[in-house]
Amino acid sequence: MLILGIESSCDETAAAVVEDGRRVLSSVVASQVAEHRIYGGVVPEIASRRHCEAISPLVEEALSQAGAGLSDLSAVAVTNAPGLIGALLVGVNFAKGMALSAGLPLVPVNHLRGHIAANYLCHPELEPPFLCLMVSGGHTNIVLCEDYTSFKILARTRDDAAGEAFDKAARAMGIPYPGGVELDKIAETGDSEAYSLPRPRIEGAPLDFSFSGLKTAALNLLHNAAQRGETVSVPDLCASYRRAVVGCLMESFRQAAEETGAKRLAAAGGVSANRLLRRELEAMAEETGRALYVPELSLCGDNGAMIGAQGYYELQAGHRAGMDLNAYASGEIGV
Ligand code: KG4
Ligand code: ZN
Repeated sequence: MLILGIESSCDETAAAVVEDGRRVLSSVVASQVAEHRIYGGVVPEIASRRHCEAISPLVEEALSQAGAGLSDLSAVAVTNAPGLIGALLVGVNFAKGMALSAGLPLVPVNHLRGHIAANYLCHPELEPPFLCLMVSGGHTNIVLCEDYTSFKILARTRDDAAGEAFDKAARAMGIPYPGGVELDKIAETGDSEAYSLPRPRIEGAPLDFSFSGLKTAALNLLHNAAQRGETVSVPDLCASYRRAVVGCLMESFRQAAEETGAKRLAAAGGVSANRLLRRELEAMAEETGRALYVPELSLCGDNGAMIGAQGYYELQAGHRAGMDLNAYASGEIGV
């Protein structure tokens, strides 16, 4: 069964053809990152316009690379939440048009479910249930994936997402958007014990995250040094900051794994590309005798293949939308 997956929730227009939720026949991504970089973050209006320009040739390219025509498809799957509303609407309306004209089922996919499904594309043996650390630019959750379309959120962030925390601290260090990627690279050369940073916890909700205090501590460190005329070692601060963020993620994830007794662990979302996080997850899995699944690097960030993969399981579960399908800026993974 071939599913066309369409993704336009943020600053990447993406389309892919996926077979049976597991095999990528094509995956094309048009990134707008270079254009948003001069503003230090994503400008929603620009994102929507670029999606409009990119989407039609991109979908054609995905079909052509897969050697598939519309008549070979079983459904059109599209991200309809969460994300930038104007950006989401481009993908949703394009998918509606395709589904209507080709007489195909239209399948709405939650972006976060899509990130988790990237693991199905890389690990044929992976099946729910498993415990997933879902870390992206907009979300940070620990999710119990009970089934392909059934999720329980065990932890969430009270303020910034992990990716956002990386990007904002990176920006203050003069690293261009999206700074998380570069911060991770620079951190490899720094001393992670050079600066002491807090690891905030939430009283009464031990699994939840809070990154805004940690981010502020890094910003204060930079401002205070500038006021005193002292230099800050960017590699050392990157390494110390990354250690603190990853430390917070791992502490909760380790506790959630113990509490749930999960035998299989996974990670998903843009931040799952982080080198230290991957190393620490591997170490924890090995130490505790659990299996670990992380997406290959090309599937950690936003892509259409993950939407095609999750779309397959949503379709199997009978989830279809009509021509009144809407897009939603927010949307929990369980909804
Ligand atoms: O999942 P994603 O592509 O988009 C959202 O759904 O938000 O995640 C993007 C986020 C950005 O904040 C980016 O800085 C972060 O993922 N990111 C990283 C790394 N690669 C991407 N953060 C830390 N280390 C990385 N290697
Ligand atoms: Zn994403």
